Amino acid sequence: MTVAVCSFAKINLGLYIGAARADGYHDLRTVYQTIALHDVIRLSVGRGRGIEILCTDPRVPLDSSNTCYRIAERVLAELGVQRRVRIEIEKRLPVQGGLGAASSNAVATMVALELALKKKLSGSMRLRIAAEVGSDLPLFLIGGTTLGMGRGEEVYPLPDLATIPMVIVTPEIGVSTAQAFADWDALAQRELTRPATSDRLFEAGCVLSAWLSGLTSGYPNTGAPAKRGSRAGNLLSDLVRTGIENDFEKVVFRQYPELRDIRGALERAGSRYASLSGSGSTLYGLFRSPAEAAKAAGRLRKQGLKAVATRTLTRQKYWQGILDG
Ligand code: C5P
Repeated sequence: MTVAVCSFAKINLGLYIGAARADGYHDLRTVYQTIALHDVIRLSVGRGRGIEILCTDPRVPLDSSNTCYRIAERVLAELGVQRRVRIEIEKRLPVQGGLGAASSNAVATMVALELALKKKLSGSMRLRIAAEVGSDLPLFLIGGTTLGMGRGEEVYPLPDLATIPMVIVTPEIGVSTAQAFADWDALAQRELTRPATSDRLFEAGCVLSAWLSGLTSGYPNTGAPAKRGSRAGNLLSDLVRTGIENDFEKVVFRQYPELRDIRGALERAGSRYASLSGSGSTLYGLFRSPAEAAKAAGRLRKQGLKAVATRTLTRQKYWQGILDG
């Protein structure tokens, strides 16, 4: 039997980087948001042993360095079972694009493997295994709108933001996350005296809390039910007013100025908020309506950009969608 699951992408709504830690990682604060674009993972188990990865995209490694391989190995060991596992990755998302595709593929593999084996890991064990494979994996065990702390692996579900229409632009550039962090360290040493990198995380807390509580509008969010259709709009204006930032833009835009131009193109196409996702190279723009997003995507494609209109995915839609693979 083959189990097929959708492996959704994420974007970062703001990303603040703190000081380098003794273990080589950086503490950070970010809001992860799952979106409707996805890969598909097809997994089957049989008698024997060994993990086989299949993917037609030459940029995806098929050996034990693949995140799907690494997580399958750990899940089998934790459940104490020996099987032959075949994992087919249908790649639609960009590789090294800042959309968390490889991390999402790994979590989808864990979900599919548990279903195929008809065995369950505990929630905390899933989170631990996911964090071992990479900092950006645990968010995909939560879905929707999620606060990321620590090196990004410490995740807390936030109240879901209503669905927001958006446009994703995927340039043909692969950005190494490790290199982007190293470039940030060099920049912080050279230029960032105030706020010092440790203050940056406190700054992040103030900005994110003000945004998520509605404090940017000048009054706290009372939690009263919003008028239909108005919530996404309010959150968008709050986000724009708060001006949350992705620190990676400061280093990645210097190296690839064309990415800054694409953010500008998204803004000129009517985006209410545009940003790099993670360390890039993907950029996204948030829009007021699906029609505006579709029109903007068409305009950007005419400019020669790889642009697609999509939407954010709430936690409920994320989990419903996973099993629609
Ligand atoms: O956790 P992951 O394997 O995705 O991280 C890739 C690399 O990015 C790490 O080896 C590290 O160099 C860098 N990184 C970091 N701080 C983080 C996350 C990743 O420095 N919070």
